[in-house]
Amino acid sequence: MDRASHRTTHSGGHRRCAHTRGDHDMSDTDERADDLRRALVAELTKAGSLRDPRWTAAFEHVPRHAFVPRFLGRQPDGTFTPVDGTAPARRREWLEQVYTDEPLITEVDGTFSVSSSSQPSLMAEMLEALEITGPERVLEIGTGTGYNAGLLCAGLGSDEQVVSVDIAAELVETARGRLSALGYQPTLVTVDGAAGYPGGAPYDRIIATCSLPEVPRAWLAQVRDGGLILVNLYRELGGGALARLRVEEGCASGRFMPFFGGFMPTRTYPRVPASELLEALRVRTEHGEDEGTTRPASVGADALTDETFGMLAALCVNAEQLWLLPDDAPEQFWLLDHSGSWANQTTDADGALTVTQGGPARLWDQLEAVHREWITLSRPPREEYGLTVAPNGDHVLWHMSPDGPSWPL
Ligand SMILES: C[S@@+](CC[C@H](N)C(=O)[O-])C[C@H]1O[C@@H](n2cnc3c(N)ncnc32)[C@H](O)[C@@H]1O
Repeated sequence: MDRASHRTTHSGGHRRCAHTRGDHDMSDTDERADDLRRALVAELTKAGSLRDPRWTAAFEHVPRHAFVPRFLGRQPDGTFTPVDGTAPARRREWLEQVYTDEPLITEVDGTFSVSSSSQPSLMAEMLEALEITGPERVLEIGTGTGYNAGLLCAGLGSDEQVVSVDIAAELVETARGRLSALGYQPTLVTVDGAAGYPGGAPYDRIIATCSLPEVPRAWLAQVRDGGLILVNLYRELGGGALARLRVEEGCASGRFMPFFGGFMPTRTYPRVPASELLEALRVRTEHGEDEGTTRPASVGADALTDETFGMLAALCVNAEQLWLLPDDAPEQFWLLDHSGSWANQTTDADGALTVTQGGPARLWDQLEAVHREWITLSRPPREEYGLTVAPNGDHVLWHMSPDGPSWPL
């Protein structure tokens, strides 16, 4: 039987001890939270994101609000405003937002978010994709708030099978306290998840809730034959490529999930805002360097909004993107990479597409080449593509099977 059903619930604990005014408020909050949580579970079930009763029970049981006492709402101008559940005036709004199917940013570094509670429907889809039957041992990369670790403990029915790591020590310690208050004691470790955690290996599953540009070789060594790795390959263009790889003899291979599965990148990734790359280019151009060459474009930036082409382009073209809407010129789309390559695509009033590109790599040429291949294959959906990671770390993208058309990444 699922161990979750034996636990004292968070709300139950508060209800038994409601002696003070503060506790009374919390009890109201917890009762409202129970209703909101049931409604969210019903929504996720109806949408087909929750299917296995073990995960339905876990989502019904583990209180997301206990892991997100405060989050940061992103404003249209890019700034963040705290939504704090401990402030009585904002408690209702906070609780309602906690139980919506939205990711909740909990930590930022400048303009980048660096920790969050992921979108519940994505978490549900990923937990379902782990194909858990009961005895599996799971390593989570990216403890964050600890909510997903709590779901794993509840869904597996055993804390001993769950190991979760985060690179940020303070998050690990906060998550440990929250989990422990709810009766969960998974193994939590502060470490760069790219190294996995050999101390807890071998694992049957690795689930990454931060994304990495490559599948680390350390993971291949720490997953048992027949085990699974679920990871979003980080690309600056986004794309949400969520690979589900089966490990056999040190090699990992499998298809991409049919839905967008994007996560924030590992904190070790050297992120630079695209606006800074554009500013550096502007300075070079002012000095008469790097004016680039202009030609008609066969593909416009709008093509990137297609779910599958967007994923392929992101996997194959390594560049940041930036939309600019100048008052006095046509809308511009920029691709910019860290080595100084750039492409500027514009569309005039008659719909004619033009691109100017410069630097060491021709980014728009690359984008158009990926688009031609995608059209040649009759625009396949994302789940027809797959990835193989060889024991030496080589990554190969393929269509339909590793023996089909393939591209080194
Ligand atoms: C989207 S959040 C994880 C959400 C979490 N699973 C939850 O349920 O709240 C991503 C987390 O990955 C962590 N992270 C980033 N880079 C990491 C790395 N190299 N190793 C381990 N954790 C990392 C961040 O600190 C952040 O807490």
